[in-house]
Amino acid sequence: MTDPQDAIDAAADARETGTDPRVYEQTAGNGEGIPFVGAGPGDPGLLTVTGRDLVESADLVVHAGSLVNSELLAAYCEGAETVSSIGKDLEELVPLMRDAYEAGDTVVRLHSGDPAIYGAALEQMDALEHEGVPTYIVPGVTSAFAASATMRTQLTLNEVANHVAFTRPQGTTLEPEDDHISEFVGMGDVTTCIYLGTHAVSETMDRLLADGHDPETPVAVVYHASWPDEEVIEGTIATIGERVEEAGYRASAMVVVGDAVGGEDYERSYLYGGWANGGNSDGSQEADD
Ligand SMILES: C[S@@+](CC[C@H](N)C(=O)[O-])C[C@H]1O[C@@H](n2cnc3c(N)ncnc32)[C@H](O)[C@@H]1O
Repeated sequence: MTDPQDAIDAAADARETGTDPRVYEQTAGNGEGIPFVGAGPGDPGLLTVTGRDLVESADLVVHAGSLVNSELLAAYCEGAETVSSIGKDLEELVPLMRDAYEAGDTVVRLHSGDPAIYGAALEQMDALEHEGVPTYIVPGVTSAFAASATMRTQLTLNEVANHVAFTRPQGTTLEPEDDHISEFVGMGDVTTCIYLGTHAVSETMDRLLADGHDPETPVAVVYHASWPDEEVIEGTIATIGERVEEAGYRASAMVVVGDAVGGEDYERSYLYGGWANGGNSDGSQEADD
């Protein structure tokens, strides 16, 4: 097998010289080869219909370990061999999937949430493609959306939050200078959704306080959104760290910072205010849906 790093470098070079023609072939959720499927946030009912059909007909499902609900595997992967990717590197994962695919098995790679968010899907796809195995992506419901549904709010809310940031805190993978949480929060009208930060809620909030952000800014931490043991911890930049520590969560939660958390003080949208029904004179703006 080619060194996965060489395969990744070759794919980057190829992207510099041109776009993969499959990009123009209606490939969201459609394709040939091994699908990289978003399993959604946990509830088996939040897997897409395409994703369910694919895992139901699979011989081998390589999944993201504890981030994929075992109820989903039990419900839809009864006929498949299921293998967790936790603790396996590319050098193990790629031949595992390639060999099964070349032997004629139907292989599915199941990522938690959506593969496009902190999923490390592309490097596996590039390495497989380099080995002659085609791949494609089937999107899923990312955990920020499940957390938003749990909180019965919107991540964008008229006059409250005009933008959403999907981000992660500094740590082993991210240098402090690449941690932009404070900048997002400082913008005021951004809902900041922090992935991979459950273990560091106190430190993250301490940095926000040190940077002078309003201690009363709402924060919610949604543990295992859409799972049977889901829990919501509410607080503010000043209080949430202690509450999460008391609850004992160290992983698998979404940290949402911003005024949209409480769903308060929004203005009704233009959409149901007669504006959209009247049409846009210049067609330059899209209405919310
Ligand atoms: C490696 S990232 C994968 C994210 C995933 N691709 C997605 O779209 O949700 C794992 C992080 O996603 C978040 N996460 C995943 N599932 C979650 C859930 N059901 N509820 C809350 N957060 C979740 C947590 O922040 C966790 O640390």
